[in-house]
Amino acid sequence: MKYSTILIDADDATLIHTTNIFKRLPDLNLVSSYREVKSALGQGTVFNPNLFLVDIDDADNRKSLPEFAKIFPKAIVVGIMSKWDADKAFESIRGGAIGCLLKPFSGEDILDGVKIFSRGVRHTKPRSFSFFSAKGRSGKTTLIANLALSIVRQTGDMVAIIDADLQFSDMAIFFDVEPMMTVVEATRDIKFLSPIRLNAYFLPVAENIQLLCGPKRLEYSELVDVESLTAVVRMAQTLFHYVLIDLPSGVSAFSTNMCEIADTVFLCGMLNTGFEIHHIQRTLPMFEMWEQYGKQLKVVLSRVDDRQKLDIERQLNHKVAAVLPNEFLMVSAANSGKLKNVMNYENLLSQKINTLAGEIIHAH
Ligand SMILES: Nc1ncnc2c1ncn2[C@@H]1O[C@H](COP(=O)(O)OP(=O)(O)O)[C@@H](O)[C@H]1O
Ligand SMILES: [Mg+2]
Repeated sequence: MKYSTILIDADDATLIHTTNIFKRLPDLNLVSSYREVKSALGQGTVFNPNLFLVDIDDADNRKSLPEFAKIFPKAIVVGIMSKWDADKAFESIRGGAIGCLLKPFSGEDILDGVKIFSRGVRHTKPRSFSFFSAKGRSGKTTLIANLALSIVRQTGDMVAIIDADLQFSDMAIFFDVEPMMTVVEATRDIKFLSPIRLNAYFLPVAENIQLLCGPKRLEYSELVDVESLTAVVRMAQTLFHYVLIDLPSGVSAFSTNMCEIADTVFLCGMLNTGFEIHHIQRTLPMFEMWEQYGKQLKVVLSRVDDRQKLDIERQLNHKVAAVLPNEFLMVSAANSGKLKNVMNYENLLSQKINTLAGEIIHAH
């Protein structure tokens, strides 16, 4: 693909730099440059551009981004910025930019960026979900893996899973992959990363699904702090349309903070003796105040029949978003390390998760 590019940046050094790097790459052609977005929108059409590089440090440029799609419906817009700022990046993506590059970028960065940012379909603004449970073995990891597959099947969007269940990170086992870079390295390096560099820390595990693996050893979990992980999640949201975060079970500053940054929290539980309902009852008030702020809280219970749902809702005095049946294939596959083989299997559990995924996809 050849790119007829227009640069919009008031900084002379960026213009000189861009002109130089474009000379070296035959696929990149700089057809024009403007200091102001207004001139570009007015005069740019004669050049028939299919790529814009727009300085998004400039507030006027960010505000004008929705205009590009109207005037240049076939062109893609990539934001460029001098230092990473998640708020500016988000505003730009909501405005129609497909992603953001940090200055100084190379020609390869532009081509890589366009390729990475164009993956998937992008039906919605980026969404993030945290999965919390009062205790372990709540069906959390099973739910996340299956939801990710279902979201991709239904939308074709890009999904990231971040395994932040730092001590018992099972997601790599679920997808049968060997962790390379993990959440430990990503949080260590995040201050120096740009979105396209962070992308390399994610491991493709299925079509349109990429995983940031949990720590390779239990003791490395100590190395991951909330602030850095929040920065990783926010940057990941400019690369993926859905970010699903697997959290450690139990209430801690870490897990509640990670719930805080997500748009929706899934409170997960698995029924064994029935006593688990009391644990959810104890956990609910902590999150219920969120609903007053318009955040979503979804209770999902595994190993529960439809017939039990109403009774449980009455006990909890809270709506249950989904009940997932006891699925013996899941357990046997998990025990034999073949979970990936059954995750696409059409059983009642998958059907229920498809319905839940559909609700998430269409919720705004
Ligand atoms: N709906 C289900 N029916 C039966 N077993 C399940 C179901 N969901 C999960 N499991 C099994 O329960 C165990 C714990 O599930 P997992 O998803 O790992 O929970 P968590 O991540 O909360 O610890 C696993 O062995 C898994 O295969
Ligand atoms: Mg788990």
